[in-house]
Amino acid sequence: MLNPSHIRLVRDTWAAIGSEDDVLCFLFLEEVSRREPMLRWRFHPDQGLAGAAVFRAMDEVLRALDSESELLAFLEKTGQAHAYHGFWRGDLTTLAQAWVAALQTRLGPELTKARQVAWTQLWQTVSGPLEKALFAKARGPVPV
Ligand code: HEM
Repeated sequence: MLNPSHIRLVRDTWAAIGSEDDVLCFLFLEEVSRREPMLRWRFHPDQGLAGAAVFRAMDEVLRALDSESELLAFLEKTGQAHAYHGFWRGDLTTLAQAWVAALQTRLGPELTKARQVAWTQLWQTVSGPLEKALFAKARGPVPV
């Protein structure tokens, strides 16, 4: 679970990047493609729109970190909403690795070891509830 120091570190990194950074989005999608070419195409094909969705999602996650119930509610809603786009076991690990690699290229030495650990911890924290919500939804009855 994230501790207050992890929360401060991810928020500091986020503030250093600024809003909707095209370079980071490009790097992230490149890192995803390099690891899992088909996974990239499950995001919006338009890089700008895919990037905007990633930024909005990250903004919401970072805002919700002070309240466990708010974070879990967001992840449950988001996981269920992704029943259509789908993600498979292992996808979130790929995204987490791609995200940290993209941050590393984007920020260079500004991505300190402590910040890397905090981001990895963030992805681990969100992955469980997201997958749980997605798979619970996927097992439910098919809507008519
Ligand atoms: C394999 C993993 C994922 C895939 C393939 C995926 C795919 C997508 C796609 C296709 C959209 C619609 C974008 C659009 O049409 O503009 C979307 C939206 C969204 N995704 Fe994901 N996503 C993934 C993981 C995640 C994760 C890990 C989060 C959050 C922690 C997340 C949060 C969101 C949110 C909040 C939106 C709505 C964005 C908006 O306001 O338009 N997604 N996702």
